[in-house]
Amino acid sequence: MASSLCFLPFLLFVVSSLVSSSSSSSSSSSTATDVLHGGEEAEAVGHDLHREYLRDEAASRLNELGKVSDVNGYLERTFLSPASVRAANVIRQWMEDAGLRTWVDIMGNVHGRVDGINASAPALLMGSHLDTVVDAGKFDGALGIISAISALKVLKVTEKLEKLKHPVEVIAFSDEEGVRFQSTFLGSAAIAGILPAATLNISDKSGRTLQEVLNDNTVGATEDNFIKLKYQPESVWGYVEVHIEQGPVLESAGIPLGVVKGIAGQTRLKVTVSGSQGHAGTVPMSMRRDPMAAAAELIVLLESICKHPQEFLSYDDDCSSVESLFGSLVCTVGEISLWPSASNVIPGQVTFTIDLRAMDDVGREAVLYELSARMYNICDRRSVSCVIERKHDANAVNCDSELSLQLQSAALTAFRKMAGNVDVDVPKLMSGAGHDAMAMAHLTKMGMLFVRCRGGISHSPAEHVLDDDIWAAGLAVLAFLENHV
Ligand code: GLV
Ligand code: MN
Ligand code: MN
Repeated sequence: MASSLCFLPFLLFVVSSLVSSSSSSSSSSSTATDVLHGGEEAEAVGHDLHREYLRDEAASRLNELGKVSDVNGYLERTFLSPASVRAANVIRQWMEDAGLRTWVDIMGNVHGRVDGINASAPALLMGSHLDTVVDAGKFDGALGIISAISALKVLKVTEKLEKLKHPVEVIAFSDEEGVRFQSTFLGSAAIAGILPAATLNISDKSGRTLQEVLNDNTVGATEDNFIKLKYQPESVWGYVEVHIEQGPVLESAGIPLGVVKGIAGQTRLKVTVSGSQGHAGTVPMSMRRDPMAAAAELIVLLESICKHPQEFLSYDDDCSSVESLFGSLVCTVGEISLWPSASNVIPGQVTFTIDLRAMDDVGREAVLYELSARMYNICDRRSVSCVIERKHDANAVNCDSELSLQLQSAALTAFRKMAGNVDVDVPKLMSGAGHDAMAMAHLTKMGMLFVRCRGGISHSPAEHVLDDDIWAAGLAVLAFLENHV
C-alpha cells in the first residue's frame, strides 16, 4: 500500500530556496568576480585584512592538518583513531597560540575558550569537526575550526580578545561523519545533550563499543560524565559554523561565501540480506537464495524511488504536488560488504548502507516507509531474509534568521575589505550535507556560512578551496566577532 502525505510546506520551502539562490547568482556574478581577484586591489583597499593570519597561516594549517592521516597515500581520520588524537593535539596548540584556554573532553572534542570581559555571560560557540571520511579532502570540517581560530588570533594580536563582551569557545568536534560508528555527530550531539546514554553501547565494525573506545582514550568515560557533557542552554548565546559548501552553487554564482538557510534531514539504514551460501558451479539458478542478486534489486529499487518518488507515494489531493520532493531527495548506497566474498562462492550474506536525505521530514518518513515495505516484499519473493536497521536520524533544521542576517552582513564586510565597495548579493542556500550545526540547533540558535569550493566537489581528495576564499571566510568571522560579540 502506498503511503499518504502532504507536501505543501515542503513545496514552499524548496521554492523559496531556489528563488534566493538563483536570483543572487544572476545579479551578482560580475561584482563577485572582482572579489575573487582581491589580491592587488585588496592590498590597496584595506589595512585590516590580516592576510598573514587569515589567509597564509590558515591555508598552511589546512595543508598541515590534511596530512594527519591514519593511512599513507590518502586522508582518513575517523572518530578517536590515532590520527584523530594527533590532529586534536595540533588543533589544541593552535587554539593556545590564539590565546585560548584549552581542554579535551571525554568524547574527544577539543575546546578553546576565551572569557572576554564577562566570564559568566552566555558564550558564542563556533567550530566544526576534526574527523574525515575515507579518502577525504582537507577542508571538510577543518576549514570551520581553522577560520574560527584564525579570527580569534587576529583579535589576540590586535589586543581585542580579552575585550569581547561574550565568552567565545571554539570546539573541534570529534565526529560528524559517522564513519566509525554509523551514528553521526557523536561529539556535537553529546554537547547539545541529544545523545542518549545508550549510545555508549553501539559498536564499530570490529565489535568494539563506544564505551570501550572512549575508555582507551581517556579516564572517566563513565555514563555520568557522558551525560555531564551537555551544555546548559542558558550558558550559550549561539553557535556559528563555517563549512565548505560541498556543492556548486557558490562557484556558479561567482561568490566566495554564502549564508545557509537550513540543513536537510537525514536517515542512515543498515540492510542485511541473508541467503544460502553455496557452490558457484553446482547450485542451479532456480534453486538459489542469493543475497547478492537480492541486494542488487533492492538497490535499484532505492534508486527508482528516489528518482521518481511520485510514482511510489500517494499524497492528499488538497496538497501541493509530490514533485517538490524532487528538489532535495537523495539516496546513496556508499558501503557494501559480503560474506565470504570469493568468486566461486554464492554469498551467504550481504550488508549495505543506505543514506537518505530530504529537506522535508514528513516526505523522508514517507519514502522510508514505502521503501522498507517494498524491500521486504522483494526479500520474501526471493526467499532471502532481510533486516533493515535504522542507525541514525536527524531532522531538517532551519538556521536562525537574526544570526543569518549578521553573518550575511559579515560576509559583505569581508568582500568589501577585499575588493572595495562592491555590491554583492550574498547567496542564501540550503545544505544537503549534514553538519554539527544540526545537533547544536537543539541547544541554541545557530547560523552557518558556506565557503565556495572548486567544482562543488567534496568527500574527495579533489576538494579544494582557494586561499583567497579561506581569507574571505576568516575576514567574515572576524567581522562577525567584532560587530556582534
Ligand atoms: C557529512 O558530511 C554528511 O553530510 O554526510
Ligand atoms: Mn563530510
Ligand atoms: Mn563536514
